[in-house]
Amino acid sequence: MTDTTTRNALIAAARDAASHAYAPYSGFHVGAALLLKNGDVVTGANVENASYGLTLCAETAAVAKIANEGWIGELAEVAIVGGRPDGEALTGSDPVHPCGRCRQILNEAAERSQTDILVHCASGDDSAVATYKLSELLPAAFGPKDLGLID
Ligand code: THU
Repeated sequence: MTDTTTRNALIAAARDAASHAYAPYSGFHVGAALLLKNGDVVTGANVENASYGLTLCAETAAVAKIANEGWIGELAEVAIVGGRPDGEALTGSDPVHPCGRCRQILNEAAERSQTDILVHCASGDDSAVATYKLSELLPAAFGPKDLGLID
């Protein structure tokens, strides 16, 4: 299990990242923070588009960062926070869970890291956190190991 200090710091990083969301259409700001095994934290926020279906989710943006740096580090844990902004804060008392596409995209990084990563899902108002293993969120996943890319 993760320790609470690590979890809370990762959620805080995701919350900070959410302040960079570009979400003029949904008004729903999401931040994701990836903890690498070397202790580095890489973040992302959702990037919407006037062609709505082209929106990039926060988790996808964050995974793209580590992939674009040459798959730096190995993934250990992820935190996700989302909600509607109210001034500096986010609203919403239910944990925000990664969408299906993001689960699959996280799975690529997790399999490459040979780790069933922890996924911390936090509510906008910081009152609720639900933690899962990625294998609970995406059981029997299809990934690079199915294509013989990794063991
Ligand atoms: N969103 C994310 O960034 N991550 C998810 O896992 C779920 C949804 C974003 C996409 C869109 O900009 C907004 O939340 C509302 O769907």
